[in-house]
Amino acid sequence: MVFMEWSDELSVKVKEIDEQHKELIEIINQAHKINMGEDKKKGNEILNKLIEFTRVHFTTEEKYFKKCKYPKSEEHIVEHVELIEKVLKFKRDYEIGKCNCEEFLGFLKDWLENHLKVMDMKYVDNFQKCGLK
Ligand SMILES: [Fe+2]
Ligand SMILES: [Fe+2]
Repeated sequence: MVFMEWSDELSVKVKEIDEQHKELIEIINQAHKINMGEDKKKGNEILNKLIEFTRVHFTTEEKYFKKCKYPKSEEHIVEHVELIEKVLKFKRDYEIGKCNCEEFLGFLKDWLENHLKVMDMKYVDNFQKCGLK
């Protein structure tokens, strides 16, 4: 069974952003497939990929917040910043041998699902009116 799955109800109706969300889900699934507690090399690779791509994704959304003068951008960006901080904290722990890996992946999955359904959904109308597709 797949750890995390994309579904139409997660669509924000902007192709570029949907594709990025799918890629994030894919990275989380890859991390779940390997044994992060055992395989440090792969674990680090996947964590770096996660951090790098999450930054790319948040930068994309935040670029459109500006372009579309999205009024709720502030509270949204706070969630982005907090997530990056949490992942970096996890990475520091991981590097010194502390790994609550299962817990971390569960947290990531819940965070992304919740963020997509609550925060990201809020910009759909604004982005549509702004002409994004
Ligand atoms: Fe997003
Ligand atoms: Fe977001």
